[in-house]
Amino acid sequence: MEDEREFIVTPWEVRGEVDYDKLIREFGTMPINDDLLNRIKKHTNDLHPFLRRKIFFSHRDFDWILDKYENNEKFFLYTGRGPSGHTHLGHLIPWIFTKYLQDKFDTELYFQMTDDEKFLHNPELSLNETINYAYDNALDVIALGFDPKKTFIFLDTEYMKTIYKIAIQFSKHVTFSTVKAAFGFNSSTNIGMIFFPSIQAAPCFFPSVLKGKNIPCLIPAAIDQSVYWRVARDVAPKLGFYKPAEIHSKFFPSLMKGGKMSASEPESAIFTTDSLEQAERKVKNAFTGGQATIKEQKEKGGNPEICPVYFYDYFLFDFDDKSLSETYNNCKNGCLLCGEHKERLAKSVKDFLSDHQKKREKAKNIIDKFILRD
Ligand code: TRP
Repeated sequence: MEDEREFIVTPWEVRGEVDYDKLIREFGTMPINDDLLNRIKKHTNDLHPFLRRKIFFSHRDFDWILDKYENNEKFFLYTGRGPSGHTHLGHLIPWIFTKYLQDKFDTELYFQMTDDEKFLHNPELSLNETINYAYDNALDVIALGFDPKKTFIFLDTEYMKTIYKIAIQFSKHVTFSTVKAAFGFNSSTNIGMIFFPSIQAAPCFFPSVLKGKNIPCLIPAAIDQSVYWRVARDVAPKLGFYKPAEIHSKFFPSLMKGGKMSASEPESAIFTTDSLEQAERKVKNAFTGGQATIKEQKEKGGNPEICPVYFYDYFLFDFDDKSLSETYNNCKNGCLLCGEHKERLAKSVKDFLSDHQKKREKAKNIIDKFILRD
């Protein structure tokens, strides 16, 4: 069809220009509409910019989570990270939002590091590397300020005693043909990957098992993970658990033309471990929606709709709606030149990074408080 450009979204690959409305239709999720936003606002007072700006745009059963909450039945949060490299700014989006939910709803968070998944999936990564990245990435999670009393980070390879008991019960209800269809596995997929969806599903039920009663689970995550939860939701009632609820984010844009930030293209992403000079250079080299010359820019204006520099403001670096719309207008009418805009963004990125890096250093002293062991 004319208006449907090609894109791919799987847990292991996001490519092309993502049509989020189409994803909602294909994955069978619900858009986050104004009614739901108003309902959230009753509990949170303010709306996080990620909600106002529809960066979190889709959900399953979030309204049910609120029903439960309003009936004094507390939920817990579950999210995670596949530790295949250093953390980039895009990874922080769901985590920042998870922190907001933890603060507003006073909830526990279980955070899974899938060192096993990344080892199994990536031919180039050794198990030692994914384990080391898991500990490295945990520093970024902790740096965001999660409450150590309510936040439990675990590595699959190290917390397996608890995970395994739930995972095998789960796996008994999932056939190869189900995961083949859901994840695109085939006869050449290694058998570790084929079992792995049970391991990612298990934490949905952790607190219910640990505390011996059903506890609702809410998963904030980028939408590429939703296929895992689809399978988890099918199996949950068979094990006597609630179906996990989900709230989905869009992908943080690449600094290059189109697509999301990617760890495999280091110039397209800013890593939390980048030096300030590296970060500045990446911003300065970014693609923009600007014209070829200053003269043309002043005459025709730029195009913020395709501009990573503008997207950066939109996603993370300008939470003030009025100032953001000024940027938008000044770009459109040619008053704001790309060089100037990049200069400004580079400064915001560097401020953010230097602050985050300090917190990341401090996290090294308290990481033990967060890591769950059995
Ligand atoms: N598979 C995810 C990834 O590759 C990691 C993950 C595990 C996760 N459990 C999760 C992500 C729960 C979001 C929510 O990044």
